[in-house]
Amino acid sequence: MLIKKKRSWEIAEREATPEGVYMNRRQIMAGAGAIGLAGALGTVRGAFAAPGDERLAMNAVRNEAFQLDRELTPEDVNLNYNNFYEFGSHKEIAKDAQVLEARPWQVTIDGLVDNPTTIDIDDLISKMGIEERLYRHRCVEAWSMTVPWIGFPFAKLVEMAGPQAGAKYIRMETFNDPSVARGIKTQPWYPWPYIEGLTVEEAQNDLAFLVVGAYGKQVADQMGAPLRLALPWKYGFKSIKSIVKFTFTNERPISFWEQLQAREYAFWANVNPKVPHPRWTQATERVLHTGERVPTLLFNGYEEQVASLYADKQDLGDLLYR
Ligand code: MTE
Repeated sequence: MLIKKKRSWEIAEREATPEGVYMNRRQIMAGAGAIGLAGALGTVRGAFAAPGDERLAMNAVRNEAFQLDRELTPEDVNLNYNNFYEFGSHKEIAKDAQVLEARPWQVTIDGLVDNPTTIDIDDLISKMGIEERLYRHRCVEAWSMTVPWIGFPFAKLVEMAGPQAGAKYIRMETFNDPSVARGIKTQPWYPWPYIEGLTVEEAQNDLAFLVVGAYGKQVADQMGAPLRLALPWKYGFKSIKSIVKFTFTNERPISFWEQLQAREYAFWANVNPKVPHPRWTQATERVLHTGERVPTLLFNGYEEQVASLYADKQDLGDLLYR
C-alpha cells in the first residue's frame, strides 16, 4: 500500500495564503520592519495555487540577505513568457509544457566525485532544505524580470557530491524525451539535450541557487520543474531548466547555445552592458512587466558578490561576457 509521506516543506491547505494575498502580505512585511506585525500575519510563507493548478505550496523562509532594488515581476507575467526550447522556440510554451511530469523525478550526480548518486527530487529537497531568495534575471535577449525563487544553495549539492581534486567544471543536462517535449521532436536541428556548465568555484559562490519553487509554490513546468538553476549574474541561458544530471568533470562543458553559435554565446556569459551581443546592444534591458527600458548593470548588479571569481581571467576579454 502506498503511504503518502508528508514532505518537510509541505504546508496544510488551511495554513496556506491565498494567491492574491501573496504579494500584498510580502509588501507589507517588507515595509513593516515590525516583528509584531509579521508575527500577527503568521509565519507561513506559502501561496496557495490557483484552481486547476496542481503545484503544492512550499513552506520556505525568505533569506533576507538576497533583496531587490526593484519590484517583483507578477507571477502571471513569469508564467506566460518563457524560454524553454524543448517545447518550442517562442515565448508562449506554457500550455504545451503542462505535459511535463515533474514527479517522480530522479537526479543523477556523477563524474569526478566521491559520492555519486541518483536521488529522487523530494529526497534531495529534504536533504538540502529550502529558503526563498529574491533575484534578478537578465536574459541575453535584453529583457529582465525579478523572481522570488525557492531552493537551496548549489554549494550544498557540491558538498554532498564531494568533488575530487580533478573536478573543475560541472556539466548539467536537461531531460531529453521527445514524447513529452514536442519541441525536441519538431526541431531536430537543435543539439539536444540542453546542456549548460559552470566551474565548481562558480557553483560554490553564494549566489548560485538551485530552484525548486517560485512564488511560494513548486516551480511551474514552463519555468523548469522540478529543478532548475538561477545564476543571476549571468545571462539567463545559463540557468538551465528541468535538470536530470550534474556531472563533475575536468573538461569545460560545451553548452547547447555554444554548440549552435559560439561567437554569440560563450561559456562565461557574465552580464556586461559594455559588451554588445553581435546582433544587439546589451547596454539596456526591457523590464518585462512594465515595458520600461533601464540601464543594464555589470554582472547584473551582483559585482560585489562575484567579481573576485574572474579577477584572474581578465585576459579572456570579451569572452567573459558573451
Ligand atoms: N533550459 C532549457 N532546458 N531549455 C531552454 O530553452 N532557456 C534558457 C533558460 N534555461 C532554456 C533553459 C533561457 S534563454 C532563459 S532566458 C531562461 O531559461 C528563461 O527562464 P524563464 O522561462 O523561467 O524566464
